[in-house]
Amino acid sequence: MKLSRLAHEIAESPTLKLNDRARALRDQGEPIIHLGIGEPKNAAPIGAIVAASACLTDGRVKYTPTSGLPCLKRAIQAYTLQYYGKQVEPENILVANGAKQALFNAFLSLVDEGDEVILLAPYWVSYPEMIKMAGGQPVVVQPDMPGFHLSSDVVQRAVTNRTRAILINSPNNPSGVVYRKDFIRDMVAFCEAENIHLITDDIYHKLVFDGMEAPGAYQFTSLPIESSQLIVINGVSKSYGMTGFRIGWAIAPAELVTAMTKFQAQTTSSPPMVSQLAAEGALTGEQGVLEGLRLDMQNNRDVMLSELAAIEGVHVSPPAGTFYCLPDFSSIMEDSMTLAELLLEKVRVVTVPGCAFGMEGYLRLSFAGSMKEIREGMRRIRWAVDANGSHSIRIGDNHIKRDW
Ligand SMILES: Cc1ncc(COP(=O)(O)O)c(C=O)c1O
Repeated sequence: MKLSRLAHEIAESPTLKLNDRARALRDQGEPIIHLGIGEPKNAAPIGAIVAASACLTDGRVKYTPTSGLPCLKRAIQAYTLQYYGKQVEPENILVANGAKQALFNAFLSLVDEGDEVILLAPYWVSYPEMIKMAGGQPVVVQPDMPGFHLSSDVVQRAVTNRTRAILINSPNNPSGVVYRKDFIRDMVAFCEAENIHLITDDIYHKLVFDGMEAPGAYQFTSLPIESSQLIVINGVSKSYGMTGFRIGWAIAPAELVTAMTKFQAQTTSSPPMVSQLAAEGALTGEQGVLEGLRLDMQNNRDVMLSELAAIEGVHVSPPAGTFYCLPDFSSIMEDSMTLAELLLEKVRVVTVPGCAFGMEGYLRLSFAGSMKEIREGMRRIRWAVDANGSHSIRIGDNHIKRDW
């Protein structure tokens, strides 16, 4: 079959193969532990369920305005004021099918053939491919400071006359790093001085630990939103654990929102009405769910860190947010894909190889699952990578012997 050039160029998700294999093994009754997951296990907040149910009971489920229902936009305005201290107008908001579509619409609206978008490693797997689909070039900057931090100098040095945007994801998937306040401040000032857009993917901004806050970019600008370079991406997928509803949004100057809305109108139209009402229900409903989820993730993180501390040769920068960590396994195996495959085949644990995020030698481990899964997954990994450990391990009903 003749497929398009783009279809050939877009990389297959490196995790797809591992996930397919894990699913096949699970279907065969194998005791798989999934430390690759990107969503919390909570039920949707009650406010979301009530609002979605009311919409379904009424039965009139229709198209909405492409850029989102006015009532959801009001809830997003209130959220933006509460958490960012920023007053925005409905025309500054695009509601999309997840943060993912909001980002994609932004790239489509900003990037011409050959334009560059700067990404900070480790980066979320979808960014480079989305930028390429929009005709752009991802330019990756490696961290130059411990704990995956970057100096603003190293980012500024990557800027060329083709740079259209710098993308910052803080807290960061996959490392859990929350970038420093002075770094965000410098990036805002730099982008404003150089007329470069600064896209902040804040999808994990409420999932931060130990009393920390993820500094939002708006606090460092005095420009009115219409002349601002900032594009803020957020949504209900992670903080409210509502991944399946597919609601995210972008806050941006009205001109850009209008352009993004055109792409959305010609592709997916409005996000589903039921999901938009559910998102409004979550944002305006009881907010204890945010803190409950955050505390669960913090407890899980602590367990994950103590399990990792028991593995010799493995170093991890403690994540300050998200539900991922990115330990360095390079002293055990350089090739992260081979290590991830070995862990799946031998001890039935799913992880995500660091090569997917531009960090060879590392593995991303998710602690969004249950405490039991985290402990059991880490027990198996610890055994698998310890060449001097016992000769066999019990997994489910099987005794696995070390043959590698
Ligand atoms: C950094 C980052 N941004 C965006 C998304 C996508 O969010 P959504 O499910 O709202 O499309 C994810 C999902 O894993 C993510 O990790």
